[in-house]
Amino acid sequence: MANLSLLLAVLALSLSVALAADNSALQDFCVADPKGQVLVNGFACKDPKLVEANDFFFSGLHIAGNTTNPNGSKVTPAFATQLPGLNTLGISMARIDYVPWGINPPHTHPRATEVLTVLDGTLEVGFVTSNPENRHFRKVLQKGDVFVFPTGLVHYQRNVGYDNAVAIAALSSQNPGLITVANAVFGATPDIDGDVLVKAFHLDKAIVSYLQSKF
Ligand SMILES: *[C@@H]1O[C@H](CO)[C@@H](O)[C@H](O)[C@H]1NC(C)=O
Ligand SMILES: *[C@@H]1O[C@H](CO)[C@@H](O)[C@H](O)[C@H]1NC(C)=O
Repeated sequence: MANLSLLLAVLALSLSVALAADNSALQDFCVADPKGQVLVNGFACKDPKLVEANDFFFSGLHIAGNTTNPNGSKVTPAFATQLPGLNTLGISMARIDYVPWGINPPHTHPRATEVLTVLDGTLEVGFVTSNPENRHFRKVLQKGDVFVFPTGLVHYQRNVGYDNAVAIAALSSQNPGLITVANAVFGATPDIDGDVLVKAFHLDKAIVSYLQSKF
């Protein structure tokens, strides 16, 4: 009896772990149908008879993104929206370009673990664990180095080299989602009431209003 409840507990745990990623596919593929009218979790399937090689194809990750913006970085995604064949497969990619001292600001992917590979340059990367520890793991990566950001945790990158840096991210969702901390907190529409942010960040009302105007 004790063994049975242990078994059930382990089973329940492994099920909840499995459900933390995208659902498993029930067919070889389900290419996203951009014209699909059915609202499902993901995209509706295109008629398999009309599927062609180009549905599993995306070209463009050889092209550097335009980094002329205040972040000094650019993410070029190859998610299910850009690569319809990824629909239901639980995986996606992105290219990220950074100018020297460019940042990919602190953000989280609510649905994906991310594995980042540096193709060129030197990147400082880090992530912060859940409350109450909020432990900060940080490392400087060189070309060829790989680093993992666990699902849902706040993470960032910064180019600390003298030249442009390029990285490829692989993500465990066809649609990882992106929550940039500063934008979500100070740029919500409609605004989060200033008093909430004054107390949450120990800031003056004027600074909160200034930050809200910036996002
Ligand atoms: C890059 O973005 C900047 C700012 O939006 C824009 O002015 C510039 O024309 C863009 N450069 C290219 C090559 O598209
Ligand atoms: C900076 O990057 C974040 C993505 O993490 C994006 O949400 C934000 O719009 C970017 N800001 C600018 C000015 O490009």
